[in-house]
Amino acid sequence: MNSQRRVALTGFMGVGKSSVARHLASILRCDRVDLDSYIEKNEGRSIADIINNDGEPAYRIIETANLGRVLNETDARILSLGGGTWTIPGNRDLIIGRGLVTVWLESSFEHCWANISKSRKERPLAKNKDAARRLFDERQGIYCLADWHFIIRPEFNSYEIARQIADQVFS
Ligand code: S3P
Repeated sequence: MNSQRRVALTGFMGVGKSSVARHLASILRCDRVDLDSYIEKNEGRSIADIINNDGEPAYRIIETANLGRVLNETDARILSLGGGTWTIPGNRDLIIGRGLVTVWLESSFEHCWANISKSRKERPLAKNKDAARRLFDERQGIYCLADWHFIIRPEFNSYEIARQIADQVFS
């Protein structure tokens, strides 16, 4: 097992990045950081509050600063990104520059939207289905720049996805 490998999980909102990361860290017995939670803790505000009040460009600056901190100041081997993190070129440079392996969790828009709709997490960039679909379509060509690609089928739960990643990426 390649125990030193560090992994960043990317993919659209609602695909299940945080849950897969939690299971993966437990299977591999290592630390993980959820970037959204890390930002909220450091900034003392919710991401929704930042985006709604300061705007998305201001949020992206904060996100990049916090990504740099996670990469440089923590030993976490599993990092779940926000849905937009990997779409910013400078963030990709940071992640690649620190040698992380990137994994795209891909699913259908309908599957992501079903999860977004039933989640309690406020997502200001997915306020309605049309806006979310536009973002989803725009981003597919960027997510696919990740090193690995796992298709999330609704019949697999997040533990099973984590198991597949552990077996294939960490073998
Ligand atoms: C965003 C996704 C969110 C959060 C922020 C912006 C995006 O994270 O970072 O609302 O641009 O797709 P999740 O993918 O965890 O919902």
